[in-house]
Amino acid sequence: MIKPLGYLKLISLREVPRRFQAHQNSLPRLPVPPLQQTLDHYLQILKPIVSMEEWNNTKRLVDEFQGSGGVGAQLQKRLQQRARKTDNWLSEWWLKTAYLQSRQPVVIHSSPGLVLPKQDFVDFQAQLRFAARLIEGALDFKAMIDNETLPVEYLGGNPLCMNQYYEIFSSCRIPGLKEDSVINYSKTTKPPVHITIVHNFQFFELDVYHSDGSPFSADQIFTQLEKIRNSSLKTNKEPVGILTSSDRNTWAKAYNNLIKDKTNKASVHSIQKSIFTVCLDVSIPWVSENVFKSQVAGQMLHGGGSKQNSGNRWFDKTLQFIVGEDGSCGLVYEHTPAEGPPFIILLDHIMEFLKKPELVRSPMVPLPMPKKLYFNITPEIKSDIEKAKQNLNAMVQDLDLTVQVFTHFGKNFPKSEKMSPDGFIQMALQLAYYRIYGHTCSTYESASLRMFHLGRTDTIRSNSMDSFNFVKAMDDTEMMAQMKVELLRKAVMAHRLYADKAIRGEAIDRHLLGLKLQATKDLMSMPKVFMDKSYAIAMHFNLSTSQVPSKIDCAFCFGPVVHDGYGVCYNPMAEHINFVISAYNSCAKTNAASLNHYLEEALLDMRTLLQEHPQTNL
Ligand code: COA
Repeated sequence: MIKPLGYLKLISLREVPRRFQAHQNSLPRLPVPPLQQTLDHYLQILKPIVSMEEWNNTKRLVDEFQGSGGVGAQLQKRLQQRARKTDNWLSEWWLKTAYLQSRQPVVIHSSPGLVLPKQDFVDFQAQLRFAARLIEGALDFKAMIDNETLPVEYLGGNPLCMNQYYEIFSSCRIPGLKEDSVINYSKTTKPPVHITIVHNFQFFELDVYHSDGSPFSADQIFTQLEKIRNSSLKTNKEPVGILTSSDRNTWAKAYNNLIKDKTNKASVHSIQKSIFTVCLDVSIPWVSENVFKSQVAGQMLHGGGSKQNSGNRWFDKTLQFIVGEDGSCGLVYEHTPAEGPPFIILLDHIMEFLKKPELVRSPMVPLPMPKKLYFNITPEIKSDIEKAKQNLNAMVQDLDLTVQVFTHFGKNFPKSEKMSPDGFIQMALQLAYYRIYGHTCSTYESASLRMFHLGRTDTIRSNSMDSFNFVKAMDDTEMMAQMKVELLRKAVMAHRLYADKAIRGEAIDRHLLGLKLQATKDLMSMPKVFMDKSYAIAMHFNLSTSQVPSKIDCAFCFGPVVHDGYGVCYNPMAEHINFVISAYNSCAKTNAASLNHYLEEALLDMRTLLQEHPQTNL
């Protein structure tokens, strides 16, 4: 039985850990929402984004779909059967459709980046010492996973699925010609005891455990990192890692070619199998504080191009920490196995760990030189690398990124107004978009489904009739301010209610996807409801957004999901909000700095509105 959510702390209380599998088995299964509920809501969300004519046409198709002669009921029954037979009716389908079957590059299109506060390194030794401590902290966290002692997280009093934590170490995506796969080597008979270090495009296998299973100390890791650095000072190496940035079909072909050579195959295998990767990056050119911030976000997302750090990555690797000479640091993760929150919790743990005084334990015995991973570069491989460089550089050039710290207020302000901060920020985004374009758009916000066994995400549709009524009213000079306040409150409340529904597995998006995929399996032709213009508009997310809250002052970032859209990620802290907005330069209609400007204005206008018209009976 799922307890009510309310607006209590979401990911909050932690309980004494239980054994992983026993905990997992105790979780509720993802429900299949009632068909009519989903279809009714689908018609609702279309209202602000399609014309009346399109809406009427879609209403007819929906009636047909769920009517007595339609296939809706049959597909729904099949979904319910699937739900009874599987641990999670959605998880395998989602893994394939959202990730493994996608042929787009993982870089920018799928893998999110995370920017940590800049560190002050006086020299390369400080960089290596930080990296060593970070590795030690990550291994400290991993110990909780290995021993199954990681505390269970809670959402509004309900325990969450912890599976994603068990998928982020020692795993890697492997390219395939039609479909990729992902391997978690910690589940193999011989789990890895090494990590991968990349410096100047050269890869190294660094053992981080002694033969008795105890992890290396930071001091020992530092010594090993120094050896790696000293043996990879030359910068004339081919950036083999850049191959992983290509679209998946191109990379799959290049991969098959690369691993024909035995040495290459062994090197690739070592990277894939490693616990995680640490990329020791070179400094990026300094322009100004603001430009630097956006460049660092780019460095995390794509590495800055072939002339900067993109060759210092293996983008298929699930977890890659990045530590630059200039103090820029963060991580990039391959999205298939997990969402952002496990990485945030890992980083929170590492940052806490870094605060502890370092135990200086000199190595008793000299450690062997970490193993360099060699690659034999044939002319064909060289040509694949050149093509990958060109494609990546074009993608890097095309990405328009703005990192902004909104300093006027943080989540405490909406809370003081008894409003959900997330809903408040989402309404500001709706207002900003409306002010730029004069209309609203399909908006995606990630909602966690981790209250269910193997749950991933569903979509909060932040754009609704309530949000539409509010944004239209806000600049209407004829409208009374008190009415605007009411519309704003109503819109934020509607958003919060839909977010609660989504978290409970009752949002529309994954259900519609399930019905569609079931139709692909069972039927000769696709039901018209999935073929009409309204469906295409509903699935074209001009605003793709995500809240990734964190204790540390970090910023998450990802690329837009459509060419004429924006990716917006935010971390609401108590007194400020970190935003990263992305768009494509090749789209004349979008501009990340402009959206950021309008967003800031919208947030301030909404605050002024509320402050000037306080509610007396709160
Ligand atoms: N009055 C006062 N306080 C309120 C309030 C109200 N009406 N509504 C909410 N709050 C408080 C909450 O209690 C919470 O308090 P805290 O800061 O002490 O924790 C805070 O405001 C934030 O709540 P809210 O802004 O409503 O958002 P949330 O933290 O509940 O998050 C989602 C909502 C939907 C974003 C979250 O549940 C979720 O699913 N996130 C998915 C993250 C994810 O997987 N992203 C993918 C990244 S790849």
